[in-house]
Amino acid sequence: MYKQNRFCSDVGIHYPIIQAPMAGVSTPALAAAVSNAGGLGSLGIGASDVKSAKKLIEDTRLLTNKPFNVNVFCHEPVSRNDQVERAWLAHLSPLFAELDEMVPETLNEIYTSFISSDDVFEMLVETKPAVVSFHFGLPSDEKIHALKKRGIYTIATATNPDEARLVEDSGINAIVAQGIEAGGHRGIFEPNTTDEKLTTSVLTRKLVAQGSLPIIAAGGIVDGTGIKAAMHLGAEAAQLGTAFIVCPESAASNDYRAALTSERSLKTKLTSAISGRPARGIVNRLICHGDSDKTVLPASYPVAYDAAKKLHRAASKQGNFDFAAYWSGQGAPLKRALPADDLVSQLVKECNW
Ligand SMILES: Cc1cc2nc3c(=O)[nH]c(=O)nc-3n(C[C@H](O)[C@H](O)[C@H](O)COP(=O)(O)O)c2cc1C
Repeated sequence: MYKQNRFCSDVGIHYPIIQAPMAGVSTPALAAAVSNAGGLGSLGIGASDVKSAKKLIEDTRLLTNKPFNVNVFCHEPVSRNDQVERAWLAHLSPLFAELDEMVPETLNEIYTSFISSDDVFEMLVETKPAVVSFHFGLPSDEKIHALKKRGIYTIATATNPDEARLVEDSGINAIVAQGIEAGGHRGIFEPNTTDEKLTTSVLTRKLVAQGSLPIIAAGGIVDGTGIKAAMHLGAEAAQLGTAFIVCPESAASNDYRAALTSERSLKTKLTSAISGRPARGIVNRLICHGDSDKTVLPASYPVAYDAAKKLHRAASKQGNFDFAAYWSGQGAPLKRALPADDLVSQLVKECNW
């Protein structure tokens, strides 16, 4: 049995293994299976409206009475720029033409930030999940304070020591140290600043040395050896995303699973071409074209994502999935397609706990 550390006892879990929140991929069944197996399951509600987010939490509660994490996006509310959006659509126009689709006249902000969304905040205060985590930045002090006052444990992602300092100063309980190997969106607060692109091991070590909060290593960790290495560097838990995408409980499509199980998973790329923010995914037609002209900036996040989703919808109607956002970390080739509880047991066994 694993000897509990501060993070596990504060959150109330057996093993320092977190199934990463993954908007569009994590499900109540996945989160509950991981929590029931002694880890911390997570829901990603960053792209959900308040009604569907509440239902995800209620559905998870029907499947587990153990703690689980609910994750929201705290990006700076978007500032629209008509010129940039038009230039981006013009850049993508050959792709729309290839799919016999009209180029949209305008793009939409397809979801709002938790920073400007009081209804999601009120729903979290009311439903009181054991853990709430933040990606892309931090909410106001008032929101953090109110969630903590309800007894909710709070976590935020940092991709560098400066962001980690802001997290620590905000009163949040723990920090996800997200390295450059990670699948999905990079949690960087300001995507337009210089990114040192620290690896998970360097970032974990730096954050452990810098502050006093529990550090959760994330990025490229897929098996027990990776978890043990992170804990050896001082992390109090590891957060795994890609490893859980291929579990039968996830919402990943068959084509996504097939891509992750094929040679395609050997080629991932960090790109802003899909959503407007840097994110790591399996290289596809949209990434290749989107990144082909560095002089054209993608529209802001999540406005660019609207164009990507329109392209994917049109392509998938033709049985073409080469425009889908298949987020994946660099550790993908090491993943195992097991039911989530078996995967947690396997990880625990590999850690010799
Ligand atoms: C498909 C996918 C979706 C993700 N969505 C979210 C999300 O909604 N919120 C979040 O905080 N992190 C999200 N992430 C990032 C994870 O929290 C984590 O940092 C990452 O998965 C770790 O790297 P790994 O995939 O190599 O394990 C996502 C990752 C993936 C692969």
